Amino acid sequence: MRFDIFTLFPGIFEGPLRESMIKRAIDAGLLNVQLHNIRDYAAGKHQVTDDYPYGGGGGMVMKPEPVFAAVESVLGIREQGSGSGDQDTDYQSPVTNHQFPIPIILLTPQGRVFNQSIAYELAQYDRVALICGRYEGFDERIREHLASDEISIGDFVLTGGELAALVVLDAVIRLKPGALGDPEGASDDSHASGLLEYPHYTRPPEFRGWGVPEVLLSGDHAKVDRWRREQALRRTWLRRPDMLTAVELSKADRAFLDTLRQAPDE
Ligand code: ADE
Repeated sequence: MRFDIFTLFPGIFEGPLRESMIKRAIDAGLLNVQLHNIRDYAAGKHQVTDDYPYGGGGGMVMKPEPVFAAVESVLGIREQGSGSGDQDTDYQSPVTNHQFPIPIILLTPQGRVFNQSIAYELAQYDRVALICGRYEGFDERIREHLASDEISIGDFVLTGGELAALVVLDAVIRLKPGALGDPEGASDDSHASGLLEYPHYTRPPEFRGWGVPEVLLSGDHAKVDRWRREQALRRTWLRRPDMLTAVELSKADRAFLDTLRQAPDE
């Protein structure tokens, strides 16, 4: 999978791309990250990428020309909606209704809030473009005529979209087959099943007097599975009850939740 990342600060990506699972995915040829410095596409001696907002007020706004030039040149888009066409399916934007051969995503606190199902959605593509904003925001024409989607990583404001782009990249690439050492790795995750994950324990069996639940040492796989399911239900019920309305529950799950409601502390 290829990510084209458009940024004024490519240096921010250097550390994260050189460590751990993302590095391994790059080394294994599963992930190709191309960083494009928007400033390289800005005209003039000073290569200015921001300007004062029309109408006055504080802050600076990212100019449209260098962002359009960078994205169009890298993706081979000649005019709105006509891309290089090397993708089987066009990306139908859930936000702007634009159709592009690949998603062109602005990272902005105004976007749809990122979650595991958006991560799965993006993992379907072979190529995704991420545009990182800076300053007070983008010239609105970038949003209207270049981007096909807008994503926020939460209801808070970062100094720019770079960290958000890394969050999106990380969550998406780990869903690609082969990116995690364990082929089942992503399926038990918190959020993947619609529930928070059950608690994990490893050796030693006793640490500072704190033990490990007996059932995990029993070797009875059916019992372990049921315990894990109940722990996941319990944790979700306590911490994220909103998630329980969206998840498919078995008869046994419902019975367990009923006992929790009656005696939450046991
Ligand atoms: N840029 C600034 N804040 C952001 C956020 N919360 N999500 C995505 N991009 C951002």
